[in-house]
Amino acid sequence: MLEPQMLRSGVESLRFVGKVALITGAAGGIGGACALRFAQEQARVACLDIDGPGAEAMAARCRAFGVEAMSLACDVRAATAVNAAFAAVAAQWGGIDIVVAAAGVYTGSPLEAVPDAEWLDTLATNLTGAFYTNRAAAPYLRQRNGGSIINISSMAGKTSWPASAEYSASKSGLIGLTRSVAMELAPHGVTVNAICPGNTLTGMVRHVAAIVGGRDGLDADAWLALRARDCPMGRIAQPWEIAGVAAFLASEDSRYLTGQALEVDGGMVMS
Ligand SMILES: NC(=O)c1ccc[n+]([C@@H]2O[C@H](COP(=O)([O-])OP(=O)(O)OC[C@H]3O[C@@H](n4cnc5c(N)ncnc54)[C@H](O)[C@@H]3O)[C@@H](O)[C@H]2O)c1
Repeated sequence: MLEPQMLRSGVESLRFVGKVALITGAAGGIGGACALRFAQEQARVACLDIDGPGAEAMAARCRAFGVEAMSLACDVRAATAVNAAFAAVAAQWGGIDIVVAAAGVYTGSPLEAVPDAEWLDTLATNLTGAFYTNRAAAPYLRQRNGGSIINISSMAGKTSWPASAEYSASKSGLIGLTRSVAMELAPHGVTVNAICPGNTLTGMVRHVAAIVGGRDGLDADAWLALRARDCPMGRIAQPWEIAGVAAFLASEDSRYLTGQALEVDGGMVMS
């Protein structure tokens, strides 16, 4: 079985000294890898997740890089919880510079079997949750006259496949949200971009592999091997490979890059 690699070893840059990064979905694979990468490059990191103990475990891993890190149990479907979390982080560290919206869910039901509740919950988490996160971020980033929002969309936001109506809709919507927020915050020097990962080795992709693969009579590893073969690069992404692009989008090297939805998918979608 493939093992997720959350960190790239040998990172020598320290681009985020003195910066504050807030990450939703930080207990998970991609959000967690982002938290670790920002900590590795010396940001203070706030790990938000509906899974409070998971967020705290990731914050503890961040502290191992010698930076301050905090965890907050936060359900991104609740605007009040999101607003309170941003206020708590800003009160603790004096502001916020980098926001990664990575909280997300995937259900994988075929269209005719999607219950209303599942549709609504996927939209509430992946799209409305990201909207609450972007809206809460805006005043803090404007105060800084800079900074970055990175929304984790998906390859499914640009293309699609069966049994992902609600997921694709939420991830396409997130690209639209990203463009609009980018327009509004551009005059303030804030960049807002989306990353569209391909299959990335996390808990979510294993869940997808189990349910979608199961429908085709494949076990999770066999399904993942098939997906790797579909990919021009012939493999599934590691979480750190998504985090590395998030770090670039938060860095000084990308100050003129905004409103984009970047495919980080080994060449699956080329646009
Ligand atoms: N893994 C992939 O192949 C892949 C590909 C494209 C996009 N993505 C996207 O990347 C993001 C991260 O996914 P991942 O692969 O790391 O999965 P993951 O399951 O490892 O992480 C998702 C995290 O989001 C958290 N979460 C779920 N609902 C929440 C809520 N209401 N409030 C706060 N936190 C909540 C979960 O607890 C979990 O820690 C998601 O938005 C996902 O859609 C993943």
